[in-house]
Amino acid sequence: ADIYFLFSGLIGRSWAMVFAAGGLRVKLYDIAEQQLTSALENIRKQMKELEESGFLKGTLSVEQQLALISVCTDLKAAVEGATFIQECTPENLELKKKIFGQLDLIVGDNVILSSSTSCLLPSKLFTGLKHVKQCIVSHPVNPPYFVPLVEIVPHPETDPSTTERTYALMKKIGQSPVKLNREIEGFVLNRLQYAVISEAWRLVGEGVISPTDLDLVMSDGLGMRYAFIGPLETMHLNAEGMSNYCERYREGMRLVLNTFGPVPEFSGESEQKINQAMSEKIPGVPKVLDARRKWRDECLAGLSKLKKEMKSD
Ligand code: NAI
Repeated sequence: ADIYFLFSGLIGRSWAMVFAAGGLRVKLYDIAEQQLTSALENIRKQMKELEESGFLKGTLSVEQQLALISVCTDLKAAVEGATFIQECTPENLELKKKIFGQLDLIVGDNVILSSSTSCLLPSKLFTGLKHVKQCIVSHPVNPPYFVPLVEIVPHPETDPSTTERTYALMKKIGQSPVKLNREIEGFVLNRLQYAVISEAWRLVGEGVISPTDLDLVMSDGLGMRYAFIGPLETMHLNAEGMSNYCERYREGMRLVLNTFGPVPEFSGESEQKINQAMSEKIPGVPKVLDARRKWRDECLAGLSKLKKEMKSD
């Protein structure tokens, strides 16, 4: 069987669970033995809870999935036999470059070196590596166990076969990969997310709507559709096809879009106002935030089940 190898923070653990649910052997690497022990305990606990609530992924039992996961604190030993390496170290360019530099010296010509980075560009991470053809970004969305999207972003020198193999692997473990044809700041997911965040910020900052009502516009409005169809298909369905939509709404959209303000500072009065509203609803203390995250993940688990039932492509 194939062996994969990761780091064991929040995202590393999630990846390990996703790979194990897909029936693949995973090796977790980290710098500290203690980090690995607690990662394994945490994975076991999460899997048990998922099993109890009926949301455990894959066809294997908890014990079978756990048996696929091993740990290691020696980089060289961890890499041995690996066909795909998913790096999950903290979001720090220098640290990631150091790790990829080390890997570059010890890997062969067949393994894929993949980074979980949310915003570092492949040209920053991989330029100058001997194995640059085998390097790629596979950006997951938190929590990857329930939100399947993976953005696959090549370096200009990445071999097309690296992109194809990464895409196929993500499909195989049940994730939903998309390919970017070239790198761009924020990739695609965060560019869309930041467009939404910045207009939300301006609307609340200008006093057009309250922070909690703004969030409702998404959760009870746009978001209902977006869990199933994207903005482009929404256009297509909201008229007699796309051309008809453009014909009807082109002018109106351009009028509205031309009233959008500049990029917000995300500080000062607006920040205070939004922070106050969010903290009243959900006090920013670890216990409350954790409970709310748990509820969010249960919602996402239910939604991902519904999406499977409704699958129509
Ligand atoms: P984390 O802080 O939970 O985990 C980092 C892991 O790296 C820890 O296990 C730590 O022991 C290990 N580590 C630290 N220094 C190291 C070193 N010198 N050598 C080897 N291992 C070392 O971070 P998290 O949230 O898991 O993020 C990891 C990556 O995933 C980041 O690049 C982040 O941008 C990306 N990501 C995170 C998402 C999130 O929502 N947390 C979503 C998508 C991507």
